[in-house]
Amino acid sequence: MSDSNVSDSENLRIGIPSKGRLSEIASGLLSQAGLSFRRQSRGLFARVKGMPIELIFLRTDDIPTLCAEGAIDMGITGSDLVQESGMAVNTRMKLGVGNCRLAVCVPIDADLQSAKDLDNKSIATSFPNITSRYLADAGAKSHLVSLSGSVEVMIQLGVADAIVDLVETGSTLAANRLRILDEIDHYETVLIQNHFDRDVETADRVVRRLEGVVIARDYSLLDYNVLRSQLAEAEAITPGFNSPTVNSLEDTQWCSVRVMVRRRDVIDVMERLETLGASAIIETPITNCRL
Ligand code: PRP
Repeated sequence: MSDSNVSDSENLRIGIPSKGRLSEIASGLLSQAGLSFRRQSRGLFARVKGMPIELIFLRTDDIPTLCAEGAIDMGITGSDLVQESGMAVNTRMKLGVGNCRLAVCVPIDADLQSAKDLDNKSIATSFPNITSRYLADAGAKSHLVSLSGSVEVMIQLGVADAIVDLVETGSTLAANRLRILDEIDHYETVLIQNHFDRDVETADRVVRRLEGVVIARDYSLLDYNVLRSQLAEAEAITPGFNSPTVNSLEDTQWCSVRVMVRRRDVIDVMERLETLGASAIIETPITNCRL
């Protein structure tokens, strides 16, 4: 397609999911990153306060195509949908949320053990392109039933012997008495951008703002006091994002350390610091940062 198809709007256009789980995730992230907007009920557009940005509310699976076509400059969607669409867009950042797996699932008691056993079987999926490639790699010739949703009930309906669907918590599988035969790939929510590179400055500001929020969600600040003689050992436990901040204390044998620690590691790190002899170990959550 040509550049003439690019939107004439002066504003940077960001496509976000209009409904569903990703809609809440995207709105929450944008608000936390200071991109405030008010969506009129069922409205398609919303202006971002104080920035030359317009949000367009779209179907999540259309976002990669509309981004590649230039109807929107950036978009928030699933990396599964980007791959399935086959569209040439840049993934500017992973948003650290909405993690899921795309898996081949079969009835709990089915006599199917590997991808090869899918030969001559019917498979229902909303991911026909990814599934076709997977089956070709496995050397299985299967009949694909391409659907836009409710894939998990297709075995009960007699439409398919197996399904390829997203699995997050596994509760949909359990409710439908299905088990995972094989995992095809892992996916998450991403921010994409097209190759027209309109208003690069604003697009980069959006990325920096979202990075601040996404990194902050993963890290806590940890403060503690430790003997100077044990500082090297303590720093080995808490190397920090870049490097720890170390301050002197009135008792010159001691120092205080402030450092970023991955949230999932905080409890373990606190225990190891305590064992080392550190004291006054305090965790503070952070909501935003620029590193
Ligand atoms: C997805 C997917 C499964 C379900 C898996 O559907 O298609 O049905 O989530 O999640 P779980 O492992 O946590 O149960 P989604 O809710 O996104 O809607 P959809 O049916 O429109 O795809």
